Amino acid sequence: MPDSNEPGNIDRYAVFGNPVEHSQSPLIHTLFAKQTSQSLTYTAELIEPGQFSTAVKDFASHHGKGLNITVPFKQEAWQLASKRSERAQRAGAVNTLKIDDGVYYGDNTDGIGLVRDLVENHRIKLNQRRVLIVGAGGAVRGVIEPILEQNPAEIVIANRTVEKAIQLAHDFSEFEISSGTISGCGLDDPMLNATTFDIVINGTSASLHDELPPLPTTLFSENACAYDMMYSAKPTPFMQWSSENGAKHVFDGLGMLVEQAAESFRIWRGLQPETKKVIELIRASLK
Ligand code: ATR
Repeated sequence: MPDSNEPGNIDRYAVFGNPVEHSQSPLIHTLFAKQTSQSLTYTAELIEPGQFSTAVKDFASHHGKGLNITVPFKQEAWQLASKRSERAQRAGAVNTLKIDDGVYYGDNTDGIGLVRDLVENHRIKLNQRRVLIVGAGGAVRGVIEPILEQNPAEIVIANRTVEKAIQLAHDFSEFEISSGTISGCGLDDPMLNATTFDIVINGTSASLHDELPPLPTTLFSENACAYDMMYSAKPTPFMQWSSENGAKHVFDGLGMLVEQAAESFRIWRGLQPETKKVIELIRASLK
């Protein structure tokens, strides 16, 4: 019997992506492992385009037990997964693979990460609130189902390319939400000028390029919350714009990052790590 305590046999975890060098995941999972007394390693691996499935199989054959998947491989991971959770199935993207005796179990923890950060860490209720989600790419697709499960009064998806917003809303429209509706529109839709939202989530990649999706300055209801799924040491352009235009509570996505990691860790190790101190530590390390 191989001894799992032998250094060569230690359970291995990693994040696969490209680029991946600035990933905080190795630090987050190392802190989780320490906190829960788990013996494992977690590394960031740069994967070349076209090499994803070969790299996963190679990792699995060398004590690889689980992976986080980031840009641009989440759809490939979905295809590679031999089993998928319902939330991953619907999201069309996998950010977590559990490797078990040759079976690749795919899950998507991004949405639960966002909802836990909003609801538990920041005490922002989504129930019966009007929610605007800006963007309609892979990142947004991954978070819609867990937001719907919170029973918002309404979800509007607004995107630069209007067809993608309408398609995404349509894909999730069969979901039973108690009183609410889900719809898609363009960023220049007149409806956005005529209404206000309680929660506005930026799920575009605009902040990555220091850009801001063009939005009406009248979007925020009284006491509204603005949330950027991106994070950085200083407030993102969307966060600055939101503060200047009436959002009362403004957050970045660092808590979402740590919460999605905690859910991945739970899937792999069966233990729920504590996140508050880890969020504080990662925040401090960004400065
Ligand atoms: P991700 O996996 O991060 O979601 P993606 O699938 O390429 O990446 O989606 C990026 C999203 O950000 C899209 O909704 C994109 O809008 P389009 O569908 O019109 O391309 C949006 N986006 C990126 N840069 C933007 C900008 N400067 N202004 C507005 N929207 C932007």
